Amino acid sequence: MTILVTGGAGFIGSNFVLDWLAGSDEPVVNLDALTYAGNRANLASLDGDARHIFVHGDICDRDLIDRLLAQHRPRAIVHFAAESHVDRSIHGPGEFMRTNVTGTFTLLEAARGYWGALEGDDKAAFRFHHVSTDEVYGSLKPTDPPFAETNAYEPNSPYSASKAASDHLVRAWHHTYGLPVVTTNCSNNYGPYHFPEKLIPLIIVNALAGKPLPVYGDGQQVRDWLYVKDHCAAIREVLARGRLGETYNIGGWNEKPNIDIVRTVCALLDEMKPDAAGPYERLITYVKDRPGHDRRYAIDARKIERELGWKPAETFDTGIRKTVRWYLDNQPWVQDVLSGGYRDWVSKQYGPEATAA
Ligand code: NAD
Ligand code: TYD
Repeated sequence: MTILVTGGAGFIGSNFVLDWLAGSDEPVVNLDALTYAGNRANLASLDGDARHIFVHGDICDRDLIDRLLAQHRPRAIVHFAAESHVDRSIHGPGEFMRTNVTGTFTLLEAARGYWGALEGDDKAAFRFHHVSTDEVYGSLKPTDPPFAETNAYEPNSPYSASKAASDHLVRAWHHTYGLPVVTTNCSNNYGPYHFPEKLIPLIIVNALAGKPLPVYGDGQQVRDWLYVKDHCAAIREVLARGRLGETYNIGGWNEKPNIDIVRTVCALLDEMKPDAAGPYERLITYVKDRPGHDRRYAIDARKIERELGWKPAETFDTGIRKTVRWYLDNQPWVQDVLSGGYRDWVSKQYGPEATAA
């Protein structure tokens, strides 16, 4: 048996592939376009491992996907590939529509053709697992209950709108064609291999470089943080036992305002790698807010807990400590990522002075 993973060189996808092959010998075909967010170095520990078949390619390439399905006969597709950064979607939404909407459509059509020709147990066992986000539900007010699977979709950014569109396609391919799908909507992840354009790794990387720590607006926006390996474990559970056509929200009941996250990271760095110039908090800098910035996300995870018995293994305290430690211990990975392309992004988003050495 084999699974096909898309986007397995990105942050969550690479953690998923590494965890999958640490716990099972079932091979993984890993299809990834290696955009700026895809990094083969995340998978370096699998070099020479015959269970990992890396394919450099695009989910919009129907011929390629058809060939991969015919050749490897996967029992499941786990679909991570996406453009994933809200700020980039504001600067340039086109690529988000292409990969997240057209790419998911292309993959669904290929999966439908492949699954339609399967028979018996193979057909019954096949799964299309769509990995999505809580951002499709929009923004909560301070006293609103957390997002349940029954909440209306109210996406506010080009990124979340493109993910919402892809979720709708997945739903329709199940409803209309019977494609055996499951969808998971997870809250903000953090952990190893997180590209430093996102809040937590950006703060770690900037702090270590003595650069300003940019906090958008008043820093009181709330996100619900989950350690990436807990997300990967939840995906494995839903893939194995989730009910067909259902969506499952994934989160760790861990809402925190951004400024608290930044202060926590600073305090851990003060402990693990003190700076002679003083506490890292001195670098906190409030900057212009993100346009259309969602105020609060929070996940009601009771469905996956009740139906599948999944619970996160990490608390925020243990997970963030592991994460900061990982970045300190993996400086060559970090330095490699902070290349020309990354500097171009930082300059575009935070101004040319932010790239000064
Ligand atoms: P990421 O940006 O780190 O990685 C995306 C990967 O997809 C990269 O390896 C990239 O090369 C690949 N990719 C992009 N376009 C492609 C294309 N056209 N064809 C093939 N591969 C392509 O993203 P991530 O943070 O790992 O997120 C993975 C998935 O999880 C996404 O679908 C995202 O919406 C979802 N998600 C992310 C979070 C989070 O906090 N990061 C939370 C919930 C859900
Ligand atoms: P991010 O990691 O981009 O994830 P998302 O927008 O998908 O939730 O941002 C997390 C939160 O941190 C979000 O409210 C925006 C905020 N943020 C900052 O305050 N400063 C930054 O430099 C970045 C990248 C994000």
